Amino acid sequence: MCGIVGYLGKKSAVEVLVEGLERLEYRGYDSAGIAALEGSAIEIVKSKGKIADLKAKLNGNLSGSTIGIGHTRWATHGRPSDANAHPHRDCTGKIAVVHNGIIENYQELKEFLLEEGHIFLSETDTEVISHLIEHYYKDNDLFTAVQYATSRLEGSYALVVLCTDCPDRLIAARKDSPLIVGLGDEEYFFASDIPAILKHTRRINILDDGEIALITSSKVEVYNSTGKKVAKKEMYVEWDAEAAEKGGYDHFMIKEIHEQPQALQKTLSGRIHSEKGIVDLKEVSLDAEKLRNINNVAIVACGTAYHAGLIGKYAIEKLVRIPVEADIASEFRYRNPLIDDRSLVIVISQSGETADTLAALREAKKRGAHVIAVTNVVGSTVSREADDVLYTWAGPEIAVASTKAYTTQLVAMYLLALDLGTKLGTLSQEKAAEIVKALAEIPNNAAKVLEQAEKVKSWAKEASVWKDAFFIGRGLDWAVAMEGQLKLKEISYMHAEAYAAGELKHGTLALIEERIPVIALATQEELYDKMVSNIEEVNARGANVTGVTFEGNKELEKAVNQVIYIPETLPLLAPILSVIPLQLLSYYAAVERGCDVDKPRNLAKSVTVE
Ligand code: AGP
Repeated sequence: MCGIVGYLGKKSAVEVLVEGLERLEYRGYDSAGIAALEGSAIEIVKSKGKIADLKAKLNGNLSGSTIGIGHTRWATHGRPSDANAHPHRDCTGKIAVVHNGIIENYQELKEFLLEEGHIFLSETDTEVISHLIEHYYKDNDLFTAVQYATSRLEGSYALVVLCTDCPDRLIAARKDSPLIVGLGDEEYFFASDIPAILKHTRRINILDDGEIALITSSKVEVYNSTGKKVAKKEMYVEWDAEAAEKGGYDHFMIKEIHEQPQALQKTLSGRIHSEKGIVDLKEVSLDAEKLRNINNVAIVACGTAYHAGLIGKYAIEKLVRIPVEADIASEFRYRNPLIDDRSLVIVISQSGETADTLAALREAKKRGAHVIAVTNVVGSTVSREADDVLYTWAGPEIAVASTKAYTTQLVAMYLLALDLGTKLGTLSQEKAAEIVKALAEIPNNAAKVLEQAEKVKSWAKEASVWKDAFFIGRGLDWAVAMEGQLKLKEISYMHAEAYAAGELKHGTLALIEERIPVIALATQEELYDKMVSNIEEVNARGANVTGVTFEGNKELEKAVNQVIYIPETLPLLAPILSVIPLQLLSYYAAVERGCDVDKPRNLAKSVTVE
């Protein structure tokens, strides 16, 4: 994810900025840059690649400047390149901006600014901000220009502005993207994350949504969205540098689990209109006519992404009424798949670099299929080779175990199913509106599930001594069971299996004995009674069953030893919520067992070999 640092004080700004950016490297980025005021001009140095590349370009220059802004970019709009790296400037060269977040209405703003004669040098959404500030900039009043410019932005932003006319100040603003002010001794900082400034100060102000802050070398002033000055509470950061990188959490995995509400919001942002009840997926180039030519869909992926594909199969078959196969990429590529120019192939990959998934994509392209990639990494190989790309916008996932990437992949699959079903007319407007409305509530519902982390933690204490565990479910719950068992295996090294509950009696039931742990997912209304019968089957053999179901379903308590509740939503969307307790279970069980949670043995985050 992108990182921001801003500095104003007596030290060499470039040194402070570069060092701050290095502290943010762990978050992942593809380019970096700084802007510093040297004399009466802004000098911008930026580079694709690592901070070492930026340092090489800087080559010790600009060391006399004491005010500047810096950025590490993780590409969203526009591929990783020198030109797309931040900071971005206006036409006059007086204004430079760094930005985290996504400006959803940037196309519309860009068209307006182009008509006004502005010239753009990058493909980013951020560049509209510097030009918009220029548009409103009058009488050396940078603050008012930033106020006006931000009032026109839709989406999320944390931004810091440097201007040649105001060599004594930096101005910052935020909405839905974190930004803090570091309070030093005759020096002030802006940063997206605490580690960037921890070496210099532990005293901070946290900016709230809608606030605009101004720092000089002697003060900080913060104003709310109505322009009223607000008094901010000073906080003291107790964390050490390592804890600060993880936002105060013990591991990246648990941090990423807790980031899911925001990540889900970003995946949905700009793609649904809940009042109108419609989906707007500009990324998918298939119109109704092209779609009518499609005979079959194949979803191809590996590991967790494959499990997201299983949910995608259900969703697309249900809403689009077209045959869908979900396939493991390493199988798909070698089995002469029935794919041709009347097939749609959807590849799912968090990293966009998984060798098997990439080979499957190439195989599909060779056979003439239309390929849509669902990925989290802009500029990744699958995003470059697919016909259309649907980004999940989950932000960098650092822990090997995939969590927020999975739930955002699920959202992407639902959006795709809604888009295809609406275009083909297999989905009524009323049904689409009902799903869209429920999707809009998913981020809040995910936050509610996370409130149960402590309950799952005590369950995990018990779980940490399990020898085996069985995850069972029917329909979509079975697909979630698959993900639950993989999480438990990969980070806590416990044996676990997932079964379609109706299949148990065909063999696996022989393994169910006294006290064996069974996790039974029961969120699918149409299959509920059948699922309860399957729970009774394992109960009869003495299993210790934990059920996962919707709040209010007290009935299940009669059939199981304990219940984990998730907020009510449409059964179709339940997987996004029901997987969260399973992620928490594996995490806390792994911690209890002393496992290396973020880097489990034998595994890599991105598997780029066959
Ligand atoms: C899941 O926790 C794993 N890290 C793994 O199964 C992963 O989902 C798989 O390797 C696919 O990776 P990708 O999404 O980057 O293609």
